Amino acid sequence: MDMRNEIALVTGANRGIGHSFVAELRRRGVKKIYAAARRPETLPDLPGIVPLALDVTDDTSVTRAAAVAADTTLLINNAGVSTFARLTDGAEDDIRREMETNYFGPLRMVRAFTPVLAANGGGAVLNVLSVMAWMAYEHSNSYGASKAAAWALTNGIRYELAGQGTQVTALVMASVDTDMMAGIEDEKSHPDVIAQRALDGVQAGSLEVLADDRTTQWKARLNEDPALLYPQLTAPAARA
Ligand SMILES: NC(=O)c1ccc[n+]([C@@H]2O[C@H](COP(=O)([O-])OP(=O)(O)OC[C@H]3O[C@@H](n4cnc5c(N)ncnc54)[C@H](OP(=O)(O)O)[C@@H]3O)[C@@H](O)[C@H]2O)c1
Repeated sequence: MDMRNEIALVTGANRGIGHSFVAELRRRGVKKIYAAARRPETLPDLPGIVPLALDVTDDTSVTRAAAVAADTTLLINNAGVSTFARLTDGAEDDIRREMETNYFGPLRMVRAFTPVLAANGGGAVLNVLSVMAWMAYEHSNSYGASKAAAWALTNGIRYELAGQGTQVTALVMASVDTDMMAGIEDEKSHPDVIAQRALDGVQAGSLEVLADDRTTQWKARLNEDPALLYPQLTAPAARA
């Protein structure tokens, strides 16, 4: 894929990984970038960048974006939230907000942009997922459920959009050094590195980009017994 012919739209483009996507797309010389954000006034005023007001949880906003950005060929579903709600006792509003943003957000975008991409030759979709779709961890399980739903969504739309020639790539990674993970001690990737690896994958026609070693290792272990993945699960004695 020659990026210079692409017209990209990035959701959540004003900060974090979305900001890195915009910078990397510019570096690769794409023709136009719709930088979509809830607060477009926070976007940089740069040549080749078209600021777009977009809240992925709002049907009207998404429909309007699809009408304005009708020349899009590469849709990057990056916007996301993590509330750190626990499934068993976290606030239900937080759990619903994660599902509304991380699952229904990309779903809304894909449904609105399917005809746009078809009209522009098929194009490509990049969905930003998380290794939390595949693993459990204290305070991230509601987020993980929303990303697992988004993973299934990604596999499903890839299948459904193959007929119109739309390439669908999943980006999966562990911790990245952005506001989302501020104050949390962990090994973190730089967002610029994640954006570079993701776009390398899109350009290469990859269906999945595992952007760091931890993610590659976790995916390889998915066929293991959960008792091996989570030693604490072995504590209760086997039921008679
Ligand atoms: N950071 C990590 O460790 C990590 C790891 C794996 C996957 N991810 C995923 O990577 C993506 C980007 O995350 P990040 O780390 O860059 O997070 P971030 O720094 O918190 O940025 C999140 C972005 O999403 C936008 N957003 C949130 N809700 C939105 C909505 N309803 N409509 C439109 N935009 C919305 C935010 O806009 P506002 O500025 O308006 O809030 C912001 O631009 C997310 O999908 C996240 O789940 C992150």
